[in-house]
Amino acid sequence: MTSHRRPAGRVSVDIRCVSSPPTVDTSYKTNVPRNANMAKLQAGYLFPEIARRRAAHLLKYPDAKIISLGIGDTTEPIPNVITNAMAERAHALSTIDGYSGYGAEQGEKKVRAAIAATYYADLGIEDSDIFVSDGAKCDISRLQVLFGSNVIIAVQDPSDPKYGNIEYMRCSPENGFFPDLSTVPRTDIIFFCSPNNPTGAAASRDQLNKLVKFAKDNGSIIVHDSAYAMYISDDSPKSIFEIPGAKEVAIETASFSKYAGFTGVRLGWTVVPKELLFSDGHPVAKDFNRIVCTCFNGASNIAQAGGLACLSPEGLKAMHDVVGFYKENTEIIVDTFTSLGFNVYGAKNAPYLWVHFPGRNSWDLFAEILEKANVVTTPGSGFGPGGEGFMCAERYTATEDLLKLSGRLQLIMAQVNKAASNVCEPTSEEMQDAAFQSDEEEDEDVDETVFDQDSDSSQNSDHDDDDAK
Ligand SMILES: Cc1ncc(COP(=O)(O)O)c(C=O)c1O
Repeated sequence: MTSHRRPAGRVSVDIRCVSSPPTVDTSYKTNVPRNANMAKLQAGYLFPEIARRRAAHLLKYPDAKIISLGIGDTTEPIPNVITNAMAERAHALSTIDGYSGYGAEQGEKKVRAAIAATYYADLGIEDSDIFVSDGAKCDISRLQVLFGSNVIIAVQDPSDPKYGNIEYMRCSPENGFFPDLSTVPRTDIIFFCSPNNPTGAAASRDQLNKLVKFAKDNGSIIVHDSAYAMYISDDSPKSIFEIPGAKEVAIETASFSKYAGFTGVRLGWTVVPKELLFSDGHPVAKDFNRIVCTCFNGASNIAQAGGLACLSPEGLKAMHDVVGFYKENTEIIVDTFTSLGFNVYGAKNAPYLWVHFPGRNSWDLFAEILEKANVVTTPGSGFGPGGEGFMCAERYTATEDLLKLSGRLQLIMAQVNKAASNVCEPTSEEMQDAAFQSDEEEDEDVDETVFDQDSDSSQNSDHDDDDAK
């Protein structure tokens, strides 16, 4: 696959506090009441808060070479077979014959057909069940508009904080990261992410059978977030529609973001089977179509050309290579933590791992690792109360860089580990010295790469939600 190293040379870092937009001093107020639901939201969304703390750390230690195992953005270049198709489509837009304006809100028919054939062959999902979109996150928001604010929602705890959160379904090492459904009350909607972000757990066929039965018994609708399905390497289902009867109770969201590096290009899809009905017998797909046509003017035609190329034989091979590459990197981080004696979960079917620090407060741990090791992680409690005592680590970078960084991480985490068991806790200054000393042993190129990436993301973050992945 294509791989470019970033050019050496430190770039200037534009450090901004990204957690909240600037407030202006004015006494004038409009007469428009604030949406009460917005007022209920917690002040800081997880990822902007992490970015704010990272920026504050860089202000305190301007020379710190931060390793980011936090926000999971992709880093590998998009394979040429895909960008060539996008470039061709972009150039065609400059010609009379190749120009196209607004497309179908549901996506181009050939893209929908290719998705159906690639991911849902033999599952009874047709192209008309598929809505191509600008990404899974946007579709999850549209689904919340579709269902309205009165429905009761269940979410895995922990789970990605982009869902509305009402009823938590605890997922822990004790229950194999699958909720004990006998204790879960009935809800209208069940958001279920598999492989799960952040635990990395993929539900087995047996577990998904139970979930579908649970939804059917309760008359609930499952929204199955399958954004990491291509990372599954065991026999866990890649689509909920592999489960008999799922078409009557489930919607599935999916994305090219983590397969082809489309986090910036933006392309995903949602499957709403025609068999799925509301309590009055009205097809859910018809209302979703209405929402899509009202709120969205269709995915970018250039992005759709890229999506089509992703689904060509060469594109599929390239995506498998990308996925394999990120999984190898994840393995390196797993080895780092397991060799230090930590309990590590996930990773097998997802590009991240979930590390247990029993008895530790997640944000304290985050602060300690950042302060002493210049490493940005994601505190588990940011994903829900069930994430307390855990840390999520994900890393997308060149393997050779990661191997070197792993050495540094081992040195530092060994200290954090000791600190956790109250053995001779070093001071912050000692740890900063240790971090710098370890860095000196690294190839200078590696340092520049890390710094470059980190500064890029802080420059890109102007608003709270810009950093939300
Ligand atoms: C579980 C999960 N679903 C959805 C998304 C967002 O996907 P997209 O980039 O298509 O909006 C992410 C992004 O990290 C994710 O982790």
